[in-house]
Amino acid sequence: MSDALLQVDDLERHFEGLKAVGGVSFHVSPGEVVSIIGPNGSGKTTTLNLVTGALRPNAGSISLDGVRIDRARSVDIAEHGIARTFQNGRVFATLSVADNIEVGIHSTLRAHRPFRRLSHLFLLRWIPLLAELFVAIFGTPAARRERRSIDAIVETEIDRFEARLGPRRDDPAYSLSYANRRRTEIARALALKPKLLVLDEPTAGMNQSETAEVLAQLLQLKAEGQTILLVEHKLDLVMTVSDRVIVMDGGRIIAEGAPQAVRRDPAVIEAYLGRRRHLGGEDAR
Ligand SMILES: Nc1ncnc2c1ncn2[C@@H]1O[C@H](COP(=O)(O)OP(=O)(O)OP(=O)(O)O)[C@@H](O)[C@H]1O
Ligand SMILES: [Mg+2]
Repeated sequence: MSDALLQVDDLERHFEGLKAVGGVSFHVSPGEVVSIIGPNGSGKTTTLNLVTGALRPNAGSISLDGVRIDRARSVDIAEHGIARTFQNGRVFATLSVADNIEVGIHSTLRAHRPFRRLSHLFLLRWIPLLAELFVAIFGTPAARRERRSIDAIVETEIDRFEARLGPRRDDPAYSLSYANRRRTEIARALALKPKLLVLDEPTAGMNQSETAEVLAQLLQLKAEGQTILLVEHKLDLVMTVSDRVIVMDGGRIIAEGAPQAVRRDPAVIEAYLGRRRHLGGEDAR
C-alpha cells in the first residue's frame, strides 16, 4: 500500500463517447500541493468531480488514506476528509457569510443530528428528523457544547479572511463581491478541516491584486501543512505554490513533475501551442 493521501489509478470517465478522463493515474502525498493544469476541456474539472464523488468513474480506483472512495457518496467523501470549491463558485445566496461557512460542517455534526446514519434509509428517515427537531427545541448539553465548537470554527475561518469577511459576517452572500463569495466558499471548505482541500480555479474572475491575495492565503495554508489539489489557469500562481504539477490534455496526463521542469517540457509547450506560443508567466487562457 502506498503512503499517499490520495491515490488515483487508471481513472476513466466518458460522456456519450467522449473520453473526458481517459486513464489517469496520480497521487498526492500528505502536506503536498499538487496542481493540475491543461487547456480548456482537457478533463481537469471532471477529474476533480470524480475525486470528490460528484461523478462516478466508468473505470479505475480512487483511495483516500488507503480507503477506496470511488463508489462512495459525496457527503461520505466530505466526511472522510475531502472538501472542495467549484469552478463557477457556489454559495447559498440568501444565507449569511457565517451561515454559509456553517453549512460546510453540517454533515459532521453529531449531537445536533442524532441517528443521522438512518437519514439515508427512506423508510426510517423520520427518526433522525424527529430527533433533530427535539434537539433543536429542547437542546441537550452535548448539543450546546457542539454549538460552541461550531461557532468557534466559523469564527476561525472568518478570521482567516478577516479584513474581507469580518465586516460582512452577517451579510447575505448575494450582497458580496465576486471575490468575497469565492473567499466564503474557501472558508466553508476549510471549516471541514479537510485532509485534502480541492480547489477548482479559485482565482477565476479575480483581478491581479485579488489573485495575489489568494496566492498569499494558499502559501499560508501550505505552511500550515494543508494538503491541496489545485486546478488553476494562472501559471504564475501554480508555479509559485505547487510542489508538483500535472499537465492534462485530451483527458490524459501528458507531463508531471516539479514546476520548473514541467514548464520546459516540450510536450507541455506543444499542448499549449495555438493557445499561447510558450508557457510564460501570465494567464494561459
Ligand atoms: N456533464 C458533462 N456532460 C457531457 N460532457 C461533459 C460533461 N462534463 C464535462 N464534459 C466534457 O468533458 C471534457 C472535459 O471537461 P472538463 O470540464 O473536465 O474540462 P476542464 O479541463 O475543466 O476545462 P476548463 O479549463 O475549461 O474548465 C470537455 O470536452 C467537456 O465538454
Ligand atoms: Mg474546469
